[in-house]
Amino acid sequence: MNARAPKGTSDLLPETARAWEYLNRTAQGLFARYGYEPLYTPAFEHTEVFTRGIGEATDIVNKEMYTFQDRAGRSLTLRPEATASVVRSALEHGLVPRGSSTKLYYAGPMFRYERPQKGRMRQFWQIGLEVLGASEPSVDAEVIMLLWRYFEAVGIPTENMRLLLNSMGDDECRPAYRDKVAGFIRSEATGLCEECNRRLDTNPLRTFDCKNPGCISVMAAAPLLRDELCGPCAQHYSEVRTSLETVGIPYSEEPRLVRGLDYYTRTVFEVQADAGLGSQNAIGGGGRYDRLTEVLGGRPTPGLGWALGFERTLLAMRAAGAKIPAPPLADVYVARVDDTVAAEVFVATSNLRDEGIAAEMDHLRRSLKAQFKQADRLGARLVVVIGPEESALGEVTVRDMQSGEETRVRIEALTDAVRARLG
Ligand code: HAM
Repeated sequence: MNARAPKGTSDLLPETARAWEYLNRTAQGLFARYGYEPLYTPAFEHTEVFTRGIGEATDIVNKEMYTFQDRAGRSLTLRPEATASVVRSALEHGLVPRGSSTKLYYAGPMFRYERPQKGRMRQFWQIGLEVLGASEPSVDAEVIMLLWRYFEAVGIPTENMRLLLNSMGDDECRPAYRDKVAGFIRSEATGLCEECNRRLDTNPLRTFDCKNPGCISVMAAAPLLRDELCGPCAQHYSEVRTSLETVGIPYSEEPRLVRGLDYYTRTVFEVQADAGLGSQNAIGGGGRYDRLTEVLGGRPTPGLGWALGFERTLLAMRAAGAKIPAPPLADVYVARVDDTVAAEVFVATSNLRDEGIAAEMDHLRRSLKAQFKQADRLGARLVVVIGPEESALGEVTVRDMQSGEETRVRIEALTDAVRARLG
């Protein structure tokens, strides 16, 4: 038996799991201020939710999906991302009544069969949000601002990040542009890698994203969609930029930013951070997808959102020395002098916990000295000592681990005494 976690996955050990919970708590606090509600979709979906939603010509669908047949022969896929799932769920449950908009957020593991490297996993964790039903450019700016504010809130310094912005156009202007790029690429085909040549007909715009030096140098001269946007797309893009400027969100236009999912229309964006990350430096990204609902069988409903990667965000936070709160595992340790008071210790510890105080006791028959050591390891501010002598008088000793001060208190007054000392 292979007792190691599968390649590209990792256990979130307590320190990392605590960071994941902290990132979730921070998200929940911030998202509540912007009116988002949680939505949790299944970890797997019918495969066509992703093939149709994300696009047949994308790397994700072509190479990276964990697809399997269940026992009834259905084709199912572990979600490589959650946007298609959220839209599927919103359609199924009618979450976007006509004329209204809905704001949803999610968090959880995603699965992509990628070549693992620093910041690139096969199972990774995302926090994301989607707004369905709203088409105004102000909502694009709000959504982008929220991503930026989130990274600030978890302690990534502004100077370590850059926000890249682009417009992918829409069904009016993109097809002609796509043909133009395909024509351009065809004329330069000898300079391009095999992969970019192969997807010339299916997805020429992906060539903008290729890391091959030959492709990068060819694409430096490629026509840019920014210059070919139709009037309404250009107007939308301009208003998004103006709104971002009015609230002081610093962005850079990146006319070659295409992103790896086919559902995008108009605004796309990505936040990159260099410190702590290698080539996988996109800590979060997203965009608008005004056609996705129709592609999945619904009536036309605009949508947009983003997702951030937990592993990469954590790398960027660590590189910046960001603090992740690590509360002590116990505020109070209840120590037992000998076995005759075992029941009193158990009851006192339970009562403290019932009163909302983080309390711990010994379950290993440690000596009193070893119990004090354990209390120290757990970070306990107070140690409550119960011995036969105290017990006979209905009292306990409370020791302040910082000042060393000891006081006797009545057992029934323990909670109040502890609370007063913890502040
Ligand atoms: P994405 O750019 O594919 O977008 O992923 C979002 C974030 O997830 C990335 O910026 C990165 O931090 C993280 N990520 C992606 N792949 C991996 C991986 N293999 N290992 C570790 N982290 C990874 C989406 O998923 C879209 N659903 C975002 C969106 C929401 N667009 C609109 N709404």
